[in-house]
Amino acid sequence: MRKKLVAGNWKMHFTPPAARKFAEEMKTKLCTPDVDAVLCVPYVSLQSVMDALAGSLVKVGAQNMHYMDEGAYTGEISGEMLASMGVPYVIIGHSERRERFGETDTTVNLKTLKALQHKITPIVCVGESQRQRREKRTAAVLRKQITFALDEVRPSEMAKIVIAYEPIWAIGTGEAATLEQAEEACEMIREHIMDNMGEKAAQTVRILYGGSVTPENASALFAMPNIDGGLVGGASVKPSFEQVVRYGK
Ligand code: PGA
Repeated sequence: MRKKLVAGNWKMHFTPPAARKFAEEMKTKLCTPDVDAVLCVPYVSLQSVMDALAGSLVKVGAQNMHYMDEGAYTGEISGEMLASMGVPYVIIGHSERRERFGETDTTVNLKTLKALQHKITPIVCVGESQRQRREKRTAAVLRKQITFALDEVRPSEMAKIVIAYEPIWAIGTGEAATLEQAEEACEMIREHIMDNMGEKAAQTVRILYGGSVTPENASALFAMPNIDGGLVGGASVKPSFEQVVRYGK
């Protein structure tokens, strides 16, 4: 049995004091032994949110990292830096980073390998555009993204990886994928992992759905056999995120 995971992706929201306040208000509400709850917050709020969550089951995550440990990379944050702070999760390859900040399948792979090296759980995002879906290329796009992202990852490491299927057309649009679309894509990703890395890797990796998850649709989505929770944007910066997490049960 895979434990459900619900990660909030705050994107560029909350100043550090506001982040601390929200985390303090939410921490007991998000605590449930049945679901791993994670708050992926801006770098500048990592410490204040970690302080606020101290002693709670709720964990913190970053929204990106660089694949080098150090060097002349102005403005970047390394996996080594996150690891030294004790950050346990990091989102890798979110579509907003792929589309607007030059993230490629190659950098997604380098970052995934580096996160694993530092014992940070990568939440690796994949997903097709509206046009790719219309042209019936969803399966091919997902297979390619997964193949690249997991290059040189060992099957035994798949228990420490989370994949987030996030159709780009569903992110921030209020138009979530249907249960069938979400389950079909997550199942396809799991089958692809099974074909390439074996049954055990496929059964242990957690695959999330993301894209307009709300308290209204979370419970049905998370009940699908191949959906192990969600990556949640807009609904994660509201108090009702509590319901989304609890529906992971
Ligand atoms: P959304 O964002 O829930 O606001 O659609 C999801 C995401 O970008 O991870």
